[in-house]
Order: sequence, then C-alpha cells, then structure tokens
Amino acid sequence: MAPPRKLHIKSYGCQMNVYDAQRMVDVLTPEGFVETASVDDADLVILNTCHIREKASEKVYSELGRLRQARDEAAQNGRKMQIAVAGCVAQAEGEEIVRRAPVVDVVVGPQSYHHLPQLLARADAQGRALETEFPVEDKFGFLPQPAPATIRARGISAFVTVQEGCDKFCTFCVVPYTRGAEVSRPVGAIIADVERLADNGVREITLIGQNVNAYHGDGPDGHAWTLGRLLQRLAAVPGIVRLRYSTSHPNDVDDDLIAAHRDLAALMPFVHLPVQSGSDRILAAMNRKHSAADYRRVIDRFRAVQPQIAFSSDFIVGFPGETEVDFAATLALVTQIGYAGAYSFKYSPRPGTPAADMQDMVPAAVMDERLERLQQLIDRQQSAFNKAAIGQTVDVLFERAGRKPGQIVGRTAYLQPAHVFPGPGMAPDALVGQVLPVRIDSLERYSLLGELAATPPQHARPLAATGA
Ligand code: 5AD
Ligand code: SF4
Repeated sequence: MAPPRKLHIKSYGCQMNVYDAQRMVDVLTPEGFVETASVDDADLVILNTCHIREKASEKVYSELGRLRQARDEAAQNGRKMQIAVAGCVAQAEGEEIVRRAPVVDVVVGPQSYHHLPQLLARADAQGRALETEFPVEDKFGFLPQPAPATIRARGISAFVTVQEGCDKFCTFCVVPYTRGAEVSRPVGAIIADVERLADNGVREITLIGQNVNAYHGDGPDGHAWTLGRLLQRLAAVPGIVRLRYSTSHPNDVDDDLIAAHRDLAALMPFVHLPVQSGSDRILAAMNRKHSAADYRRVIDRFRAVQPQIAFSSDFIVGFPGETEVDFAATLALVTQIGYAGAYSFKYSPRPGTPAADMQDMVPAAVMDERLERLQQLIDRQQSAFNKAAIGQTVDVLFERAGRKPGQIVGRTAYLQPAHVFPGPGMAPDALVGQVLPVRIDSLERYSLLGELAATPPQHARPLAATGA
C-alpha cells in the first residue's frame, strides 16, 4: 500500500469555509490523504480562500509566494508538493490566479469539491486543472460522510450547511456571484447528517448558510420547510442539546423562526443579524430592502417571545456617499439595539459589484476614524454584556479540557468562553459534552471564569471511580 499523502488546508473567512475544509478532508481521506498541521511536510496544500473584502482576497497571493518557496524546498528533497486554491477567490478569479501564480496546480470553486481527486489527477497528468463551474448536480449528494472517529475528533460542536448561495444582491457584496443562487438542501438529508453527528458525540449543531433563514428545503411531506420548522424537527434528535443558525437576513425572519425561539429550549437565544448601516439612505443604496425601523421591529419580535435573547451584527462604514449624518444614524441604531458583539468593516469595493461603480468614495482617513468610533461603541457594549454575567449562574456546554491542568472550557448560550476548575476528583474530560450550571465569578478579557454550581450527574464519572 502507498504511504499516506499529507494534506494541509488553510482556511480564511467565514464559517462556511471552515465547514467546506472539513468536507474536502472527507473527500480526500478515502484517497489516502491524512491531515498535517505543517505546510512544510505537506504533499498537498489547499488554500481555502475568501473574496469578501480586498484584504482577504489579496492574502492568497502573498501566501502563494510563501508556498512557492516551500514547494521549491520540497522539490530539492525530491518530494512533489501540489498546491490548490479553493474557495471564493478561486471561483471569482480562476484564470487570474493561474496567470499571477503559476505555482498553482489546481483551482477549484466551492461547488466542485467533490471533484478534487479527479482534478488532482488531471493536474498530475496535464500540469494544471481548473474547475469553477456551477454544476447542475447537487454536490452534497456526492460528498462522502466523515468516519465516526473523525466526527469524534472534531469535537462536540459541529456545523451543518443547510443552504448555500444568496439571491439578495446587496450592492457591495460578492457572495451572489461567488456562491451562486440560493439553494436549500432537503430536510431528510439534513436530519440524517445531524443524527449521524449526534450518534458520534456531537451535542451542538450550528446550521449554516449565506442566507440561512431563507431556507426552504423539500420536506418529507412534499412541502418546502422553513428554517423554524427544520429547527423544531432537529431539536427532537436525541443527543442534540444546543442549536444555532447563521447568518440571517432581517427580511427573512418569519413567524416560524420566531415561534422556534419561543418554543425550543435547545435553540440558543443568540442571533447574528447583520444590519450593515443605520441610515435609511445608505440601506437603500446597499439594496438591503429594509429600513432601520424595519430592523428594529424584527429585533422586537424576537425579544417579545424570548427576553433572554441577544444579538450580534455586521456593519460596513464608509459605503460610497456615507455622510457624517448617515454614520451618526448607525451609531444611534447600535445604541438603541445594544449588541452582545458585532463585526465592523471598512467598505471595500469589489470588482463586478454595483457599488464598485458608485461615485463619492469616502476618504480612507474618514473611514478609519468612523471605524474606530463604531468599534469603540461596540466594544463598550460587549464589555457591558460580558460583565453582566458576573454573579450569575449560567448554563455552559463543556467542549474540551483547558490549557491549565484540571481546567475545562465551555461556552455559554452567548458563545462566551467559560473556564472552570471542576475540583479534585473530577476529570475535566468526563464533563465534555455536558451542559452544567456555572456560577460566574470574574471576567478575564473575553472569557468568563467560574465554578460548577451543581454536582455533575452520575455519568460524569469522578476520577476515583475510574481509577485514573
Ligand atoms: N466591503 C466591506 N465589508 C463587506 N462585507 C461584505 N462585503 C463587503 C465589502 N465589499 C461585510 C458585510 C457582511 C460581512 C460578512 O462582510 O458586513 O455582512
Ligand atoms: Fe451578501 Fe448577505 Fe447581502 Fe447576500 S444578504 S448579498 S450574502 S451581504
């Protein structure tokens, strides 16, 4: 048997890329690849790229420069290193990548990962292979399932793609071009994935999609199911204790999703709901098709059924034509809503998007200054939110042993990391996968520190009982 070939994947950007990287591993494992943490001893390096902003996109080319050296060194030692570019830059700039970086063997768009083995073989035979089509076939049907041991090694929290692509066409955004039209996976396939994950120790599922709450997959009853209905069904899968979904669009929040937040204890009260701007004029120029008041009403609907709910968001500062008055409206909206956290970005013109042709670019220095002010406001809100946990008893889902001996790390409903020392006689590993109440004593940067507020149940075996 041939020795295993070593595979190194470097992912940039969103959660979808993290998930896609795992799918690529699942495709390449049966081909005899094993993962390696180091670029230098890899036989295949895949850059799983992000095209959302220019900075993300340009990283690919600097990384390819470094990879050329690693590849030359490998060649000097008589070893061949193949280099593949995947993800959204591959999709958007296929030919350009090959022109700018001849070191690349394979360029593969996100819809074609199931063809990776054939593409690598073709590159071997012909020197190079490129595939960035949107095939008509459903790639999900062709992606192999990870082995039980692989699922267990990936931990108790897993992503599942339920929807891909976007039909919204916000004027700044490349996603509708790189990820294509909106497609939902059928309900049955998602349930099967989640059951398999749960059977192999997964306790928390995050359903992901570029526009996840536009989900409308075929249900077993022959009707299209909403995200709310899907969540309700998944909450019944034995072993699943937490459900999340990301990323949502305010215009696709329907009554089923609100009802899910009212009815499902497993559905975490933490929603990422990007608004991008607080100015109606800018929202219109962005083609968001909602006003700031519409967004506030959506937030109110969630809050009416689930008072514990907290929100995060994305913001763009310096969209073309943004005035100080527009920016003040963004600050006002952030102040009104009160976020648990948020991401904010300087506007970056993306080739091929309508906004890239707009006049009235905001000067770089103004953008910097606005970003700084917005981030300060968001940071203050995030700190206040985290501080409010001190003195409270909160549920923590434990994920893994911590860095310090005897420590265990988990997350609260709001994804805040929580660190606990369960005390002598209790193996931290035995708590992994359990939700337990923790009394929060203090805050260290973004992490909460606390103590178990209840004795773990029987199946969390104390050290003494295991003889360890
Ligand atoms: N410039 C800056 N930020 C952008 N985003 C998307 N496109 C751009 C762009 N051209 C941001 C949006 C989106 C997040 C994923 O990235 O805020 O919600
Ligand atoms: Fe991009 Fe999101 Fe707008 Fe779709 S809804 S175009 S993914 S910003």
